[in-house]
Amino acid sequence: MKVLVTGGAGFIGSHVVEELLNDQHEVFVIDNCVSGNPENLPTGTKLFLMDINDPRVESVFEQERPDYVIHLAAQASVVVSMNEPYRDFFTNTAGTVNILQLSNKFAVKKFLFASTAAVYGEPSYLPIDENHTTHAPSFYALSKYSAEKYIQYYSKFNALDSCILRFSNVYGPRQNVNGEAGVISIFIDRLLKEQEINIYGGSQTRDFIFVKDIAKACCVAVMGGAKGIFNVSSSIETGVDELFNLISEVSGKLGVKPEYKPERVGDIQNSVLDNRKAMRELNWYPSYSLSDGLQETLLHFSRLEHQLIV
Ligand SMILES: NC(=O)c1ccc[n+]([C@@H]2O[C@H](COP(=O)([O-])OP(=O)(O)OC[C@H]3O[C@@H](n4cnc5c(N)ncnc54)[C@H](O)[C@@H]3O)[C@@H](O)[C@H]2O)c1
Repeated sequence: MKVLVTGGAGFIGSHVVEELLNDQHEVFVIDNCVSGNPENLPTGTKLFLMDINDPRVESVFEQERPDYVIHLAAQASVVVSMNEPYRDFFTNTAGTVNILQLSNKFAVKKFLFASTAAVYGEPSYLPIDENHTTHAPSFYALSKYSAEKYIQYYSKFNALDSCILRFSNVYGPRQNVNGEAGVISIFIDRLLKEQEINIYGGSQTRDFIFVKDIAKACCVAVMGGAKGIFNVSSSIETGVDELFNLISEVSGKLGVKPEYKPERVGDIQNSVLDNRKAMRELNWYPSYSLSDGLQETLLHFSRLEHQLIV
């Protein structure tokens, strides 16, 4: 099968590309590399360096004729969304509608969209299932939620199958350590560089899922028959303090003591997603324990650190 991965040069996208290639699919990528990097892609991957809103994207569809589309390209920073809501909307909502429209025009078999647990806002119960109310607390969550709605309407009015995956906190090799990177890559990077580590609060809990499990979910969901919305997560609640201790253990840097700071305003206290619908209907299950995933992540960052030193 031929698969288009938008945002394929990014953190999650590059793992999705690897997973598809391992399964012998043909892959091409559209990415403007605003936060991604062509070096993340396996050698030889066909990359169209362009914005998802670029009018030339239509010629790419015409030339390549993908069977499936995995749409991951996004402005993924909450802070940027709050400072530049139009930019966030233009990429996440309008850009998604553009890719959706072209997927329909060129008779794509299925369209998969990467959404986020952020659309649930402050949870009213845990674990959060797909029937939980949505309450977008940021423009990022709103632009993702609006895109979800366009996809649902689009599938209803056209013969385009679609699937929406709401990811929890994803971590793993190649995650960016700058800006609003995931807490795991920040902790690991700082531990390896022996830099000061700040923990804001510490008692908050999150649901961490390894990027290779996410990549697998994207592939099985896009090729499979299930439609609708699915949480994709580990369904395991881990405290930030507990996470720090686990990373210290796995990395052997047991002497480093974090600096505790007051919790940041607007931080959600506890979050964990119910992943049973994905297990049941997508026949997907997370295969990495947190400790296994941390070891792979640590190995990646240690190699990077080593390359920098050498
Ligand atoms: N990382 C997480 O924990 C997480 C959680 C929930 C949802 N998501 C979603 O997963 C997807 C991938 O996120 P990621 O963490 O890999 O982020 P990322 O920033 O590494 O990847 C996004 C990719 O999209 C590309 N891109 C951005 N704007 C573009 C545009 N206008 N045109 C073309 N390409 C563009 C970037 O260059 C990058 O390669 C996003 O849709 C994000 O919202 C991520």
